[in-house]
Amino acid sequence: MFLAPPNAIPRRCPLTNACTRRCRPLSVPARSSRRTARPATFTLLVAIMPETERPQGFLHGAPPLVFVLGGPGSGKGTQCRKIVEEFHFDSICVGELLRREAHGGDDPVLRRYIEEVLQRGEIVPTAITMRLLHKACTEHVGTHRGILVDGFPRAIEQAEAFEREAGAGCAFALYFECSEQVLMGRLLARGQTSQRADDNMETIRMRLRTFYTTSMPVIERYQQQGKLVRLNAERDVEQVYEEVRRELLRRGFVR
Ligand code: AP5
Ligand code: MG
Repeated sequence: MFLAPPNAIPRRCPLTNACTRRCRPLSVPARSSRRTARPATFTLLVAIMPETERPQGFLHGAPPLVFVLGGPGSGKGTQCRKIVEEFHFDSICVGELLRREAHGGDDPVLRRYIEEVLQRGEIVPTAITMRLLHKACTEHVGTHRGILVDGFPRAIEQAEAFEREAGAGCAFALYFECSEQVLMGRLLARGQTSQRADDNMETIRMRLRTFYTTSMPVIERYQQQGKLVRLNAERDVEQVYEEVRRELLRRGFVR
């Protein structure tokens, strides 16, 4: 990850030593700050390993993959923890990977950029998300009975990128369905005690908008493919999990 004016793109990527011709430039608005004056916009060069140079089919031979979908506050994390406990799945939370990168990543520009996207309740670009997910997934290949991917994909483009690169889609997707009113109520309640910077009214509104505009088509996609397991997530945690358990047992997973 590096900053440079567009006419000063180095010929080799500093991270991967790959040719930079396929690295994708992104225009990123600079955050205004009282203390540091920045130009209105600057070019963030996402110096990720180009997709074509990442090992393709990285999930080949991996245990079944279960995508966990639902609006912000629908209970994805809560239910994933229960599945891990009982069914010994592995769980990767993409939001958590991003928060970790935003707080402890090596690159200060990337850290700040992710932090700002999360704060705006938007979706982090697929190139960045895929790089983190690729790393996390390959650590889990060959272990455990299944892999839960919490909060992924959140856009059609992500679903397609994943299938292309991983060489596998999900076995099925759990969708925790919840009304906007319930989601809002849960997140505002959690916001009173949680450390999450995005649990405030303004960001929650934007997270909800992003969910309905960008992520709903993903849910429709899996519905059309016959892979969607739709669960009423407005019931209490144990009732929701009871149905999750039934669905997993029905598909042959053992406790
Ligand atoms: P992420 O961390 O995934 O957040 P989210 O989707 O907004 O959802 P939450 O984690 O807040 O809620 P949850 O559904 O896990 O519910 P939980 O169990 O915690 O993503 C954060 C951000 O990262 C995104 O906004 C985006 O910017 C970025 N990002 C993430 N994935 C990305 C991707 N693929 N690509 C690009 N960017 C990405 O429960 C919530 C609360 O409700 C808790 O207090 C819980 O105790 C309570 N609760 C849970 N279940 C119940 C129940 N049944 N009844 C009553 N209360 C309940
Ligand atoms: Mg969560």
